Amino acid sequence: MAEQELKKYAVIGNPIDHSLSPEIHKHFAKDLGIDLSYIKIKANLDGFPEAVNKFFDEGGLGCNVTLPFKQNAFDYVQQSSELAKITGSVNTIYKNEGIFFGDSTDGIGFISDLEKNKDFYIKDKRILILGAGGASKGIIPSIFLKKPSSIKIYNRTYENANKVIEKFSILGDISILDKENIEKNKFDLVINATSQGMSSENFEVPEGIFEKGSICYDLSYGAAAKNFMNFAKENQLIFYDGLGMLIEQAAESFFIWEGIRPNVTKRLYEKLLAVTN
Ligand code: ATR
Repeated sequence: MAEQELKKYAVIGNPIDHSLSPEIHKHFAKDLGIDLSYIKIKANLDGFPEAVNKFFDEGGLGCNVTLPFKQNAFDYVQQSSELAKITGSVNTIYKNEGIFFGDSTDGIGFISDLEKNKDFYIKDKRILILGAGGASKGIIPSIFLKKPSSIKIYNRTYENANKVIEKFSILGDISILDKENIEKNKFDLVINATSQGMSSENFEVPEGIFEKGSICYDLSYGAAAKNFMNFAKENQLIFYDGLGMLIEQAAESFFIWEGIRPNVTKRLYEKLLAVTN
């Protein structure tokens, strides 16, 4: 009998060396007794469609998409989920009867991590998001689905924050944090969605916005989350990094491809934490 070919999955990005996705998906597969391969593909900055085509032509079943291609992936797919449409971003691609489908699991991953692993629920909470780029837009619709009291945006460049407000105000109460009256605002959850951690630039967190029990959550992890983590520690605030979200968004992608929801364990989180620190 011919040996059955391994199911082929991948993550496409640039850079891609640092990606933990292969480790996470292989862990899920092993746990569920599924044989699969999951590779990293570095696409040229102007070569995303070619890289996806090649992967699927060679028998790929599904791929994740990471920076800087999530918007390219949205443009690439022929059909997409409602969440992908609202965020304009795709991180999970699969092919069905010759048609490429795209989904966005980042927002769901973020919410799952908060609810399942941190026992934190968005309903009626006051949310502040630092940053107004792709990461910020990727989570806002999923936050609104959980009915927060309000979302405020704080961003270095006012214009970019304003674009986010315009894009999402149809979904609920979202506005720019008024820099004149900052201390009048308090937040239950402050999310760092800036890419500051990737650079050596200064990082500014507004003062006077925290209360006892306020939570700081960085969508990044490892070295990129250090500045916000240090800030949180200095101010005796609860801090979480984005590793839990990374695992949960991967679990959601796995579910889309394989139809089975993997078990997200503390052991996997700790294994990855050891690699990133
Ligand atoms: P991503 O896809 O990771 O969100 P992005 O779309 O380039 O990346 O967005 C980066 C976000 O981080 C932006 O909100 C950016 O602020 P500007 O809109 O002012 O550019 C923010 N950012 C990057 N470096 C920062 C820094 N040193 N301090 C504060 N915000 C920063």
